[in-house]
Amino acid sequence: FPDTLIDQFGRRVDYIRLSITDRCDFRCHYCMAEEMTFLPRDEVLTLEECARLVKLFVRLGVSKVRITGGEPLVRKNAMWLFEEIGQLDGLRECVLTTNGSQLDKFAPQLKAAGVKRINISLDSLDADHFQQITRVGDVHKVLAGLDAALSAGFENIKLNTVLMRGINEDEAEALVNFAIQKRVDVSFIEEMPLGEVNHTRENSCVSNADTLALLKDKFSLTPSTHQTGGPARYWQVNGQLTKIGFISPHSHNFCESCNRVRITCKGELFLCLGQEDKIELMPLLRAHPHDDAPLVQAILHGMRIKPKGHDFDLRRAQPAVVRFMSHTGG
Ligand code: GTP
Ligand code: 5AD
Ligand code: SF4
Repeated sequence: FPDTLIDQFGRRVDYIRLSITDRCDFRCHYCMAEEMTFLPRDEVLTLEECARLVKLFVRLGVSKVRITGGEPLVRKNAMWLFEEIGQLDGLRECVLTTNGSQLDKFAPQLKAAGVKRINISLDSLDADHFQQITRVGDVHKVLAGLDAALSAGFENIKLNTVLMRGINEDEAEALVNFAIQKRVDVSFIEEMPLGEVNHTRENSCVSNADTLALLKDKFSLTPSTHQTGGPARYWQVNGQLTKIGFISPHSHNFCESCNRVRITCKGELFLCLGQEDKIELMPLLRAHPHDDAPLVQAILHGMRIKPKGHDFDLRRAQPAVVRFMSHTGG
């Protein structure tokens, strides 16, 4: 097997994002439709299959695995997977993206399993706004989850915020102040048009160029060279531990340096978040339980068809990508 994955444009792929469930206990407006049906159990990778894929990708030179969902921590026995892959030789970082709702329960176990960093979605500090955005979520539960992660000893925790016009667009400053107080980082993400939702993305998306300008007025910021291997560009809040990240698929495209692919809970290898190109790994996993060679061939084919970049266009009436973010795992 090769020990590195290089795509058709010469980009090294060393980061996989693995979604272990399509289910979530929240229903965020920008991520899901109000009525979602979830997959039956036999169409979802088993945790053993997830572990097999992670181990295989690590042999192929992947050094960072991010576990996503849906909400990964609502998957039964999720902790088994973290214990299985958290400290693999060759894996630099096993990291987690979560909505935080279960962290008060699982933070110590995640830390013990070897999870290196946690990104927590937090769109608002205001209980009413938070419920409006998540439809069912309780911000106090998420804040308790953040405190549990801090108490468990997690460092470099990052909050993820999607600002939306008319809902939480005026909360950037408060969220940065909160991040400073908690000594964590915060990233602002431009809303992406995945799946058809109940609002018009073009009206709702707040440009990170505007958010940065606003924050520069309120805080002393310097561009930072900090890198996480993800798409964010960081600014340091001077005199504080907090860094502010900007993930700006619309106002600052980052596809040229793309280093990642995604695996959905159905075992689809998506080569780009913003395109439909994919390879089905589940049939190969199940047809060849003891032979990885067919999987490797399929993954290498994926490298040859990985697209140059997304073509998100907020002005289009129909989203270019019909699947929801919860399907691909962000
Ligand atoms: P770090 O490892 O901390 O850098 O995390 P990350 O930014 O890679 O992951 P996270 O799960 O926190 O994702 C934050 C946001 O970035 C989510 O909205 C993702 O959908 C988005 N994102 C991550 N990777 C990509 C990408 O390749 N393309 C696009 N368009 N968005 C991405
Ligand atoms: N656009 C931008 N970010 C999104 N997320 C979910 N759906 C979207 C979207 N359509 C974010 C969540 C979470 C991260 C994994 O992805 O808020 O923080
Ligand atoms: Fe990579 Fe596609 Fe994301 Fe661009 S949109 S950074 S090409 S996954």
